Order: sequence, then structure tokens, then C-alpha cells
Amino acid sequence: MTKVAIWCRHEGDDIIGIGPTIPWQIKSDTIRFRNLTLGQTLVVGQKTYESFPGRTLPNRKFAVVTFDKNYEVSDKENHFVVNDIRQLKDYPEDLYISGGASIYELFFSTPDMRPDIVVDCLYHGTLNPDLEGQPISVHKSVDIMQQNYMQLPAKFDLDNITTTVWLKKGDFVEQSLVKKILNYLETEGK
Ligand SMILES: NC(=O)c1ccc[n+]([C@@H]2O[C@H](COP(=O)([O-])OP(=O)(O)OC[C@H]3O[C@@H](n4cnc5c(N)ncnc54)[C@H](OP(=O)(O)O)[C@@H]3O)[C@@H](O)[C@H]2O)c1
Repeated sequence: MTKVAIWCRHEGDDIIGIGPTIPWQIKSDTIRFRNLTLGQTLVVGQKTYESFPGRTLPNRKFAVVTFDKNYEVSDKENHFVVNDIRQLKDYPEDLYISGGASIYELFFSTPDMRPDIVVDCLYHGTLNPDLEGQPISVHKSVDIMQQNYMQLPAKFDLDNITTTVWLKKGDFVEQSLVKKILNYLETEGK
């Protein structure tokens, strides 16, 4: 099983959300996330899960992280609850760690649960000024990534977002999946 973290963070402050909302709307960012995660199992915190319309996304499975042992998912066939991320240690398929900030931090700060691959999208534009709520940042996870991961040299620019891929140092990382992600990034928007 390979663990892939995928996020889009704002350049400079590493903000990924304000209140429940992503503070930019870029179609190609949504499409990238969709295409890289289709058919996969996504690990999300309860707040991110609740931010999806109908608490679902088509053709994806969800592991919903919550302290609530009685949390009811919207789709009992394809979604399940996780109260401790170590329950996912021997999960039989790849996992796409998809936010929010508390879930990225949980995985990055648990050495044996750290993602193998990070798809790091950096948004260079301005944040939506009309949103109310707390800014939510991934700076702690970014610090851990910068210290413990190696950034591949390829950079992909599309619609004011630069995407790079980072690999965990010192561990075997499934090369076929790295290639698949890089191939997708190479061709997106073309
Ligand atoms: N830009 C991006 O790439 C991106 C991606 C995803 C999300 N986001 C944004 O991120 C924001 C949400 O992030 P967030 O950090 O506030 O919320 P979150 O990580 O989505 O969810 C937080 C919830 O996760 C559960 N949780 C956290 N730590 C846990 C632990 N150790 N054990 C068990 N459960 C735990 C708790 O659920 P309970 O309260 O139910 O116990 C907690 O309230 C939103 O603005 C969203 O739009 C942005």
C-alpha cells in the first residue's frame, strides 16, 4: 500500500482553507484532484468530508477520520469510519490523504504513517476576501515534508498553480505510481 498526500496550499502562508471552504476556485485544480483520485480510497477528516456536497464524491471510497465512534457516513457501502489512523496500517489498497489540515498533520507527525508521496500544489494567487472563518494552514506538515522528503526536479505550471512531487527519503517508494502521477501532471491541461 502506498500513501499519497495531495493538497493545494497558498504560497507564503500554506493556507488550504478558510472556515469550511477552499479560498480559491480553479477548475484545473479540481480536475487534477479528481483525476488523480478517481477509483481510490481517500482519507479525510470529518470536516472535509462534511464539506463535500452530499458528503460524497463520485467513484471514490472514503475513510472518514473522527473521534466519534457512532459517526454515520452517507454511503455505508463505500465509506467507513476510522477513529485511529493506525487502523489503516494494513489497508489493502493505496490511500490518498486528502485533508484537512488536522489529518495531514496526523499522518506527517506519525513517523510510521507518513505519506510516501506528496503531490504538492502551490497556489500563487490571492485568497477569496469574502470568506468568513478561521484560516487553516498546513505549515506544520510542510515543515516535516521539507525536512524528510526529497523534491523531484520536475515542476508543472497550470493556471497560477505550480505542482511538484516529493518522495519520502530513505524508504522504497512504488515507482510505478510515481511515474503514473508524473505522467498525468505532464499531460494535464494539454
Ligand atoms: N486546499 C486543499 O487541498 C484542501 C484539502 C482538504 C481540505 N481543505 C480544507 O481544510 C479545511 C478543513 O480542515 P480542518 O483541519 O479544519 O478539518 P479536517 O481535518 O477536515 O477535520 C477535522 C476533524 O477530523 C477529526 N480528527 C482530527 N484529528 C483526529 C484524531 N487524532 N483522531 C480522530 N479524529 C480526528 C475530528 O473529527 P470529529 O470532530 O468528528 O471528532 C476533527 O474535528 C476546510 O477549509 C477544507 O476546505 C483544503
